[in-house]
Amino acid sequence: MVIKAIDLFAGIGGIRLGIEQSFGEDIKIIYASEKSEYSRRTYYHNFNHEPENTDILEINAKEIPNFDILLAGFPCQAFSIAGKRKGFMDERGRLVFKVFDIINIKKPEVVFFENVKFLKNHNKKRTFLWILNQLEYFLGYYVFFKVLNSANYNVPQKRERLYIVCFKNYKDFTFPKPVRREIQLKNCLTKQISSKYILSQKYLDGLKKHKKRHQEKGNGFGFQVIPKNGIANTIVCGGMGRERNLIKENKDNIEWDKIGVYKQSVRNSELIRRLTPKEFLKVQGFPSTFKFPENISETEQYKQVGNTVSVPVINHIGNEIYKNFFTMKKKIYIRKIKEFKDLSILEYQILKILLIGNFISKTGIISIQSLKNTCKDFKLHYLEFKKSFRKLIKFEIIEKITPKRIYFSKNVLKYRHFEDYY
Ligand SMILES: C[S@@+](CC[C@H](N)C(=O)[O-])C[C@H]1O[C@@H](n2cnc3c(N)ncnc32)[C@H](O)[C@@H]1O
Repeated sequence: MVIKAIDLFAGIGGIRLGIEQSFGEDIKIIYASEKSEYSRRTYYHNFNHEPENTDILEINAKEIPNFDILLAGFPCQAFSIAGKRKGFMDERGRLVFKVFDIINIKKPEVVFFENVKFLKNHNKKRTFLWILNQLEYFLGYYVFFKVLNSANYNVPQKRERLYIVCFKNYKDFTFPKPVRREIQLKNCLTKQISSKYILSQKYLDGLKKHKKRHQEKGNGFGFQVIPKNGIANTIVCGGMGRERNLIKENKDNIEWDKIGVYKQSVRNSELIRRLTPKEFLKVQGFPSTFKFPENISETEQYKQVGNTVSVPVINHIGNEIYKNFFTMKKKIYIRKIKEFKDLSILEYQILKILLIGNFISKTGIISIQSLKNTCKDFKLHYLEFKKSFRKLIKFEIIEKITPKRIYFSKNVLKYRHFEDYY
């Protein structure tokens, strides 16, 4: 069984990447949408799939093919501490209404959201309570949410984000436990760095003055130089995000321009530099195979990487969703079998044993002879059981039958080794 998912506000596909790492070949992103042309270019460059060039408000949900999982890292500016926090008064804050419309029409099994942590507290918590209310009471989902810090999931970055996981049919979900961090900022750094990333002396002096002014007023913390064996501050798309993540470079690692504005005499003597967009991608946990296309400016690259997610965090959450997804599907499946009234009690029992026990091989093939033996063990007449075959095919439990073998469908294979379920 391939699970179908859609990726809304797809950005550069960080959520997709983490979820694909969890679900492997069991998932297919059948639809993606993203408004920004530049993000679509990066997405296409890496997934060979170009998101629809649609403003979400123009999507006709009925035209989206059916899917099981909805992924949406909806824009956070309206709720972000860095923004004006107008929430639903801001057009960008209301985009989530449209996502609820799509959920209402398509009723996917799972919904996954990522947003800034402040969404939880915005407007004296009223915004979030409204969102929860919509998801739980209006749309009928079981909702789980938690603020997780990327630094606890082997990502060298302090990044607290709110994650919301909703299930249509499943009441239990646990967010992943923290894991040991083995990666530090230094593991994300490029060995040889162009002198253009070294701040000019003038700019650094400006940052120092700015910081001093703010410190005197007792607010803000301005630019920050992070030790290479430390971890980065939150990467955000605005300018200060970069300035809070400066490092001090060794002189041997710098490739100096001989002339022009990037020559050594114009750059700062402490060799303080910005991280490159590629390094920022690594600080977000993207694999080195992920690349920006060539026709994207660096300013745009910084913006895209600040807007995206820490992939390993999504991957850890995705692993939990994956486990739940199949337990949940199995529950629905068993419920469906129960609804399959034409099966006699014994037939139902044997089916359950076949499904839940390990009777079916990895390939999903069972020889008619061994089925006959199983029937004998359960004192069931094979011929009686055979009568149900046509229904079992219709029910997609059995794919096909040959004179010697029964081929169970791939759906059933998922439920092997669930023997302790019942
Ligand atoms: C927080 S980012 C999502 C990042 C993405 N989940 C990822 O993993 O890279 C929000 C995205 O929504 C897009 N967006 C904003 N308004 C939109 C709209 N009205 N319709 C479609 N996309 C929109 C932005 O261009 C931005 O890429």
